[in-house]
Amino acid sequence: MTDRSLTDPAKPAACFAAHLPARLSVQQPAVAYAPSNIALAKYWGKRDAVLNLPLNSSLSISLADWGSHTRIFPAETAYDEVWLNGVSLPLDSAFASKIICFVDLYRREQTLPLRIETDNTLPTAAGLASSASGFAALTLALDAAFNLKLPKSVLSMLARFGSGSATRSLWHGFVRWDRGEKEDGSDSFARPLMLDWPEFRIAIVPVDTGPKSRSSRDGMNHTVATSPLFKIWPAQAEADCTAVHTALEARDFATLGALSEANALALHATMMAARPALCYLKPQSWRVLEQLWAARAEGHQIYATMDAGANVKLLFLSSEEVFVRRSFANVSVIRPFEWPQSWLGKVGPGGQNWVSKQVL
Ligand code: PMV
Repeated sequence: MTDRSLTDPAKPAACFAAHLPARLSVQQPAVAYAPSNIALAKYWGKRDAVLNLPLNSSLSISLADWGSHTRIFPAETAYDEVWLNGVSLPLDSAFASKIICFVDLYRREQTLPLRIETDNTLPTAAGLASSASGFAALTLALDAAFNLKLPKSVLSMLARFGSGSATRSLWHGFVRWDRGEKEDGSDSFARPLMLDWPEFRIAIVPVDTGPKSRSSRDGMNHTVATSPLFKIWPAQAEADCTAVHTALEARDFATLGALSEANALALHATMMAARPALCYLKPQSWRVLEQLWAARAEGHQIYATMDAGANVKLLFLSSEEVFVRRSFANVSVIRPFEWPQSWLGKVGPGGQNWVSKQVL
């Protein structure tokens, strides 16, 4: 494992410079949408913290109309403006600082104040993190605002610097992020899988809808640094990603569900073995899992996955939708292969233009 976290801060700048013109200008106001995503085979652990390169490949399903809309305009003053859900944020707030740091990777030394507006359609009550959709939508909107027309693979690579899971939020449907082998990270980006599965469903069972006790970035670093169980994670996670991909191609839902659930529980085991222990799951998360396992013992094909938070996400096919809605409290069901007709640029499963990208 190579963690160069403190050794070469110029590397991200070099990565952006390789794909951007020397000077940028805002050619037009721009708007973009990107969906959030949930990994069926999780990314956990970095091989390079500065370049945000993962130790293992991951595979996700995007959440259709649960995501982020981002608009970019030239600022009317000499300063950036950052808006979230209609509210102007102080520039030193955690959210605004992360956005501005990311945009600075594009601007480099150039003075180019922007007004950046983000609206999340993820219901707050679902308690889902929005960094994946937020950084993916921001990457798409910057590409349109600066009229860069970069290939989606390059956009995925750039989105990686905002958040790892953002690499996978540039497409709808199933998406795979290959870890890549190269030191400079130029082969570490996501790609859409040409796989349509209209019956596929995800349900969010809210357990804790407040802010996370610890960010996934912090939790990941702490786990990698202190958990003895993490040693076996990278090889197992890579094998899980390959197996999930194979099960998807075979439309073998039982294998896919069992693998995803085992992968998520192994992820949480690495965290719980960290020193001190890191437990994102709450007693209520375990109660939901117990309920799910009881339902499965009765023949219901429902599986679970959990990220760096307490909420439980259920995976099932449309034949179980009525049962899930009836059995799990306050559940929200997402149909990842249905999206609003108003979205632009949709061409079909795995297609390159699935993400709505529109210039005002
Ligand atoms: O991309 P980050 O830094 O938010 O980390 C994502 C970590 C997990 O959600 C737990 C797994 C994943 O692959 O999305």
